[in-house]
Amino acid sequence: MTEANYHVKNLTINGVPRRIIGTPETSLLTVIRDQLKMTGTKRGCDHGQCGVCNVIMNGKVVRSCITKWKNVPEYAQITTIEGIGTPENLHALQWAFIVCGAIQCGFCTPGFITAGKALLDSNPNPTREDVRDWYSKNWMACRCTGYVQVVDAVMKAAAILRGEEKIEDLAKMYKPGDSIWNSKYPRPSAVYKATGLWDFGDDDRLKLPEEFLFAYPFALEGVRHAKVNKIDVSEAEKMPGVYKIVTYKDIKANKGTNRIRGQVGCPSVTTDGWERRIMVEEGDKIRQWGECLAIVCADTETNARAAADKIKVDYEPLPELIDIYQAKAADAVKVYDEIDGIDGMPNAFNKRMFTKGADPKEDLDKAPYVVEDEFYSSRQPHMVLETDCGYAYYDEEGRVTLATKSICVYRHQMMIARGVGIAPSKIRVIQNNMGASFGYKVAPTNEPYLAIALVACQRPVYMRINMKEHNIRTPKRSPFLMHIRVGADKSGRLIGAEQTWWVDHGPYSESSNDLTNKGGQFFFSPYAYANMRATGYTCFSNHRWSAAFRAYGAPQTYWGCETAMDMLAEKCGI
Ligand code: FES
Repeated sequence: MTEANYHVKNLTINGVPRRIIGTPETSLLTVIRDQLKMTGTKRGCDHGQCGVCNVIMNGKVVRSCITKWKNVPEYAQITTIEGIGTPENLHALQWAFIVCGAIQCGFCTPGFITAGKALLDSNPNPTREDVRDWYSKNWMACRCTGYVQVVDAVMKAAAILRGEEKIEDLAKMYKPGDSIWNSKYPRPSAVYKATGLWDFGDDDRLKLPEEFLFAYPFALEGVRHAKVNKIDVSEAEKMPGVYKIVTYKDIKANKGTNRIRGQVGCPSVTTDGWERRIMVEEGDKIRQWGECLAIVCADTETNARAAADKIKVDYEPLPELIDIYQAKAADAVKVYDEIDGIDGMPNAFNKRMFTKGADPKEDLDKAPYVVEDEFYSSRQPHMVLETDCGYAYYDEEGRVTLATKSICVYRHQMMIARGVGIAPSKIRVIQNNMGASFGYKVAPTNEPYLAIALVACQRPVYMRINMKEHNIRTPKRSPFLMHIRVGADKSGRLIGAEQTWWVDHGPYSESSNDLTNKGGQFFFSPYAYANMRATGYTCFSNHRWSAAFRAYGAPQTYWGCETAMDMLAEKCGI
């Protein structure tokens, strides 16, 4: 690239005239964050669909992730969250978001406040519908708080800005001891989140020492089940900026088992819970789209991704089991077979039986009203707005320190230690501020990659995957296939229920005991009835592995039961 490739622009950013140089295809978001180091504006989907990157440009809300530098007008006036208010001098919108409880994880908050300011600048007296429409039109999404409190906050701020209410009244509500919308105190972090000063993982990246490498976990696009013969990184190693390409061989060299402790264990489970690999080995298998074959550690993300494109993998595709019907079929290929030394581990690796009262079979056979049907709940992504990210370094005591989105720091320490070959006492996991989890980070995701990349490179590393990769590679809510039979007598009173259910758990058993049990535990649980028989199976498949998601198994079961109950009520004419 020559100097002619750079575009120089004179802009006014948060009231300050600035001359800024950028490459034409760079996004405005990258200029704001990476060049100007203003991290209040967040990086989310990078496709203009979540709104966390919103800024005001010449009075209009723009999604900075899809605004190319070459399209930013000369002399544009740009306002980011940093230009709206500070902790010592909060804007009415920031006060209102704090006291109305419109902030939870806070990852979306700068985008909402910035877009809200543009609304109130152009329409000082909006209706609640106007506020909702505005946020919808400007592609704003919040996954934690919802929108009621957000609209409350904008309406409150609008009243203050019109002079109908006083900001001091909001300030009074911020005193300890006051009751604020049914909670005693505002969230302690709210003031920092409302001003864009709360650093999430990718904000930390821009403030780390320069020795940190970017680590990209390489996976084969779209391959869910395949035998891997060879992983060739020789060409990739020669690419610009590459420091090292880490593979399973580095794990072996560190005396790691390359396995993650899966937190299962009861007599009904066939697997020992150690079947989850950290990285794919030559001679072993890929068992889901996104399994890591190599970690490219380079000076920049661009160079790491470019080098990853040069990795060659020789593999033989295998039949893919991407739904529960395929996974539980008698002639289904096994997700774990003799390659693993566990000769013929069945796909249905766990069987759980629940009973209550007598066997209802005979009563149901004779019941005047019976519903018998199959119900299939969907796989569900957590759809957090901050993608999976984190970093690793040796701390002052020489411990492998992993700063990630982990919500189980001690559990993750123990789950990965043997796999990466590091004693638990030498691993320290720190939870970063995070743009939500909703349960997916009960599972270790990037922790073992970061640990082995640090050890192999002897350099600190940072890792972030993009939104598509995040949605494909992180664990999801398991679908349940439920075969339900439930019956009622002539008066509509329940006389019993039966169920067989199958949990599609992807290729790892990790934490599946508890989830599977929910199928029996919550089966028609809000209803008074005497007799029940239920049998549940947990199955390996080649779809995404499963982790916690709010209520962890209960919604699947309730959905099946409540749908069957509606059908039964209709039959009974109730
Ligand atoms: Fe809106 Fe978390 S508070 S995404």
